[in-house]
Amino acid sequence: MTGSKTRLAELQDHEPSLDEFRSGVIDGLSAPRKFISSKFLYDARGSRLFDDICELPEYYPTRTETGILERHASDIARLLGPRTRLVEFGSGAGTKIRILLDALDRPAVYLPVDISRDHLVAASTDLARTFPELRIAPVCADYTAPFALPDVPGVAHETTAGFFPGSTIGNFTKEEAAAFLAGTHDLLGSGAIMIVGIDLVKDIDVLRAAYDDAAGVTAAFNLNLLRRINRELGGTFDLSRFRHEARWNDGLERIEMHLVSLRDQDVAIGAQRFHFQEGETIHTESSHKYRLDGFRDLAARGGYDPIEVWTDEKQFFSVHALRAR
Ligand code: AVI
Repeated sequence: MTGSKTRLAELQDHEPSLDEFRSGVIDGLSAPRKFISSKFLYDARGSRLFDDICELPEYYPTRTETGILERHASDIARLLGPRTRLVEFGSGAGTKIRILLDALDRPAVYLPVDISRDHLVAASTDLARTFPELRIAPVCADYTAPFALPDVPGVAHETTAGFFPGSTIGNFTKEEAAAFLAGTHDLLGSGAIMIVGIDLVKDIDVLRAAYDDAAGVTAAFNLNLLRRINRELGGTFDLSRFRHEARWNDGLERIEMHLVSLRDQDVAIGAQRFHFQEGETIHTESSHKYRLDGFRDLAARGGYDPIEVWTDEKQFFSVHALRAR
């Protein structure tokens, strides 16, 4: 993948190492309340399953946010102006960015950042076919840790913008979310515009169904983590001895995904053994839901001022435009 024939630059590869995965899993399973970071849900199969989740009838966030972006793409384009350097955090399948790219005035360069290298390469290659004039500079990185943006030779931009759709920020704790926003502020620079998708607090039944769909895709996505541990770390998880559960945590206004042990059992990962009691869980993901003011307060902690917010009719989802102070 070089820039000679296409406008696709060479991949910047900082994919998390196997050691990082191993120590993340071992540390999490050694804690009094077992957990594993949700960032490890996204191996190649996990990323594909997540794409499937986005198509589910119960999973309203994707289509609701897409509708908001479609309705307000020209407002966003006006705000960003011409020749934008556009950085997307967690670019995934690269679907939503197309709505912005269609509306933007001669974007200078698009930098998709994603933790899953194969997924990133496939999505960037696909995008380069649709937008042959666009400079694309993919960066494989864990964007929750500091990383640098590559210099793309010959690119002159007038504004820098960040794009963080999907309410992925909801997968961070409030502290992590504020720190992430502060990190993007440093990365993008003062004056940059940040477009962030934020899922809103709503009826609990709607939320539960979205995270425990009838077809069992979310369950497969959650259980895939155990399959990944078996394959990559030599784990001995028997997937039929765990089940997926989606819980609403009212105090923290978040949906939690857990893997519940169906019996007392021991599991080995390499030389280490872990005991599970029946009913004990591994907490694998939190998905925080926000209120509009609550998110604005959080953004302020990250160094951003609110410019604009767009929502859908039901107030299920919101897209915020922020400016880095
Ligand atoms: C990526 N993230 C915003 C999704 C969410 O809704 O929290 C991940 C997900 N987990 C289960 N379904 C979707």
